Amino acid sequence: MKCRRCRQRAVIDLKSHNTAFCADCFFVFVERQVRRAIKEHQMCSRRDRILVCVSGGKDSLALWDLLLRLGYRAEGLYIDLGIEDYSRRSREKVEAFVQGRGLELRVVSLEEEGFPIPELARRNRRAECSVCGTVKRHYFNRVAAEGGYDVVATGHNLDDEAGRLLGNLLHWQWEYLSKQSPVLPGVGEALVKKVEPLCRLTERETAAYALLRGIDYQLEECPMSRGATSLKYKEVLNLLEDWMPGTKAAFYQGFLKNSEIFRRETDQAPLESPSSFRCSQCGQPSLAEICNFCRLTNPT
Ligand code: AMP
Ligand code: FES
Ligand code: ZN
Repeated sequence: MKCRRCRQRAVIDLKSHNTAFCADCFFVFVERQVRRAIKEHQMCSRRDRILVCVSGGKDSLALWDLLLRLGYRAEGLYIDLGIEDYSRRSREKVEAFVQGRGLELRVVSLEEEGFPIPELARRNRRAECSVCGTVKRHYFNRVAAEGGYDVVATGHNLDDEAGRLLGNLLHWQWEYLSKQSPVLPGVGEALVKKVEPLCRLTERETAAYALLRGIDYQLEECPMSRGATSLKYKEVLNLLEDWMPGTKAAFYQGFLKNSEIFRRETDQAPLESPSSFRCSQCGQPSLAEICNFCRLTNPT
């Protein structure tokens, strides 16, 4: 198998693009996909201060690496979820990435905040993944707003977004469909813009990128995510992809082209004036008097 660009020996074949690349040409391909996503969705500019949320996994560390290579000003945020050895090992990967490169990293420890995820889930009698999502979203925005960042970037990839889309469609979640986008605009200083620059790359591509760049990442999945329905949707899409290469990208890109349909159908109140939509306890943007995060962490 030869590289499509330079005819050297290829190290990866990409059936969905009907091509194959050597390592150097694969890097060019990956950078092009990220540049294209950023441009297409006007995600960020080189003047912006970007907060990259890093879990220690392949996607978010590859994202940080790529943003820096493309000339963006990117600093990191790691949330130590307090999930025993898994969190300790993930933190080690993030710290190793930072050390070798002299980067700026902010760390929030939920143990120190007084509510590690397993305990918070028990206290609220809720599944770990659902409380974890609320807590992470809260800190992504809060750390970015308090630190004066212009943009929050996460490592969500094409598999994540196509899987989420399939789940939302299967259950006709109109409200979620209307909000699903690789870029969510910010509002004032309170709600920081959120972007997903890896939305054109599959999980296999981000893993190959991290591996070929020598990025040491956390291979383990979170122990709480076993059997999660989101993984089932990804599996189904992978079966279709094997059968018909390119299906995943066509499914998601088609949605992005037509997502207006879902916006018109839902009548949601936009968060236009963040000062009047603040949680009375933590001051973060919220449509309710007390936000979901405060309801979880200070149950009355
Ligand atoms: P997940 O929800 O675990 O699929 O993660 C999606 C994205 O959220 C990752 O690519 C990261 O950008 C971010 N993320 C997940 N976990 C953490 C964490 N513990 N600390 C900071 N960012 C995270
Ligand atoms: Fe949040 Fe597993 S429960 S990453
Ligand atoms: Zn709150």
